[in-house]
Amino acid sequence: MQPTGWAGVYREGRDLYTVNARPWERVYGETLRTAEGREFRQWDPFRSKLAAFLARGAPEPGPWAGARSVLYLGGAHGTTVSHLSDLLPDALLFVVEKSPTSFAPLLALARRRTNIFPILGDAQLPERYSAEVGAVDLVYQDVAQRAQATIFAENVRVALAPGGRALLMLKVRSVSQRRPADVIVREARRVLERVPLSIDYETALSPFAREHVALTGRR
Ligand SMILES: C[S@@+](CC[C@H](N)C(=O)[O-])C[C@H]1O[C@@H](n2cnc3c(N)ncnc32)[C@H](O)[C@@H]1O
Repeated sequence: MQPTGWAGVYREGRDLYTVNARPWERVYGETLRTAEGREFRQWDPFRSKLAAFLARGAPEPGPWAGARSVLYLGGAHGTTVSHLSDLLPDALLFVVEKSPTSFAPLLALARRRTNIFPILGDAQLPERYSAEVGAVDLVYQDVAQRAQATIFAENVRVALAPGGRALLMLKVRSVSQRRPADVIVREARRVLERVPLSIDYETALSPFAREHVALTGRR
């Protein structure tokens, strides 16, 4: 198992791993490996867009490096959240999820991992959770909504500390079925730049997540 330049991420061959904060426990059926007295969880880029972002060559050390608090929008069952929980054992991870069906497994995950604070809420209404969340070092969003860029921009405005990092997983076809992808991405960048957020990296996530583009920026 080799360390990578991404903070807390390991590699064996082409496979990525994080150190399991809850040894013996799987979150989504992932492979567990023991090496040098530690247990590692395989991080599947076809299941997690953050792993896809790394597999596509994201800049090191990764936007979560050094974060003490994170606002994660669209937690679903907690697949990616669980790896961030491994990567940032001492951070506070506030995770917003709208669907009560997805929230139930997320809540169960948070009971086992004390750095996860799940919020049943709507990312379109950040004023409902902003007092609880405060100012965070990283805003991460993965919600398949038409107004993804606007939702992200509003959360960055409300919750991202100055100098903080932001990572948007933009699902292009949720914005429009017909308009060309490059136009949709350009429009999203304009919305983010108005926050203002300075965009420093952009990559498509194919073949791991089709029709998705990751954008990172700094406030
Ligand atoms: C693609 S899934 C997220 C997968 C997750 N990020 C992961 O990698 O493990 C998108 C999630 O966003 C949630 N969602 C959609 N719109 C939302 C909103 N306005 N506020 C909060 N969650 C939302 C959906 O219920 C769904 O669970």
